[in-house]
Formats: sequence, structure tokens, C-alpha cells
Amino acid sequence: MNTPVLPPFWALVPAAGVGSRMRAERPKQYLELGGKCILEHTLGCFLDHPQLRGIVVSLAVDDPFWPTLACANDPRVLRADGGRERADSVLNGLLRLTELGADEQDWVLVHDAARPNLAQSDLDLLLAELADDPVGGLLAVPARDTLKRAGADGRVRETVDRSVIWQAYTPQMFRLGMLHRALAEALVSDVSITDEASAIEWAGQSPRLIEGRADNLKVTRPEDLHYLERLWRGRH
Ligand code: C5P
Repeated sequence: MNTPVLPPFWALVPAAGVGSRMRAERPKQYLELGGKCILEHTLGCFLDHPQLRGIVVSLAVDDPFWPTLACANDPRVLRADGGRERADSVLNGLLRLTELGADEQDWVLVHDAARPNLAQSDLDLLLAELADDPVGGLLAVPARDTLKRAGADGRVRETVDRSVIWQAYTPQMFRLGMLHRALAEALVSDVSITDEASAIEWAGQSPRLIEGRADNLKVTRPEDLHYLERLWRGRH
């Protein structure tokens, strides 16, 4: 079997969020997991990849934790300023990539800072599947549970057909020019954008869904971190 040729890519990691649902004393990307912080693990998922051209991390302007990390001195990792919403942080990161010489047609993989458990096999799968795609796409996981639509009274209105529902994960892989235009126009039009794919959809395109591993989870609540701690302990 031929090994697929993987395209070169840039990584963009928005890391300017506070993560208030973790109820922690610091932003969730700086919480410790197996001897390193979550953000270091997340960047490590990309740093060893032979096709990586560079990483831009969007950070809060007054972030006091970043300069203490070893990867802050890695020449392949550059910073951009975070913005008010995730989409603003991503847009700033894209502008930074352009300043660094990235081309309109270059692939950019946007990945949440709080997803430290991205498997190399999932990253390769995404790159291989989308290498020649005209739009791009994202890692996603089909819904497992029965889904309910709730009413304002907290009671079930209806059961939703789960066979067509997917959870959007990251990385989300798009060409720099297309993503930049879609995000900028969506933000100007005041459309709510919670991931890159929704900006591309708003621009009239259909991103491809690539089925990834469910354990590429986003640390959102304390129990997510406990789950990853157990997983890490099992590995080492
Ligand atoms: O809050 P949530 O987990 O949905 O955030 C997803 C990602 O977006 C996180 O990596 C977070 O740091 C980032 N983010 C950002 N700028 C914001 C808000 C969130 O970079 N203003």
C-alpha cells in the first residue's frame, strides 16, 4: 500500500480564553497534566510533525504564564495577540501567518489550546484526507447518545435524529485565504462563529467531516482533566 503524501501546513492555536467552567486559579491551558501544562502538550502534538512549517499561538496580551514555558523560546512557535472572542483570536493569528510569509493557498490547521490529546494518527488522517480537497474540513465525532431538544421549561420538546449529528472537534483545516475572508466577513456581519467551519459554511461552502478519535477531547470541566490524568498515568 502506498503511504499518502501529506501536505505542508501551519498550525494556529487560539489560547487566549479564560476557561471559566474549570473554576481554576489560572486559564485552563496552563493547568498541569503529567508534568507539563495542557498548552505544552497541545503544541507538542504538532512540533514533531515533519510537514509543520510553524505554529502561531494567540495569547491574551497580558498573559503572565506563557513566557515561563520552554516552548515560548522555540523558533518555530510565534505569538499573536488574542481577541475578544475565539474568532477574533484566530483572525489575528491568520494575519500573523501572512506577515510571516504564509501564502493564501497554504493549509492552516486551527486547533484548540485545550485539546492536548490529539493523536498523531488523527493528524495524519486529516492531512491525508483533505490534501486535495477544494474546501477543507475538520475532525469530528458522530453523536453517540440519544439527543433531546429542550424547551424553555427544561422539559423535552422532541428527540432529535442523531444519525446526522456530529460533534465538531479540531484541528479544522482550511486554506489561509479562504478562511481569512470567511472569518473577516462573518465578524463584520456580526454572525456568531464558534469554530472555523461555521465561518466557511456561512460563506456558502461545505467542509468535510473526517471521523476522529473521541478522546481528542476539549478540557472544559474539571472531570475532563481527571479523565486525561488517568489516561496519561496509564500510558507512562
Ligand atoms: O472556551 P472554549 O473552550 O470554547 O475555547 C476554545 C479555544 O479558543 C481555547 O483554546 C481558548 O483558549 C480559545 N479562545 C481564544 N480567544 C478567546 C476565547 C477563546 O483564543 N477570546
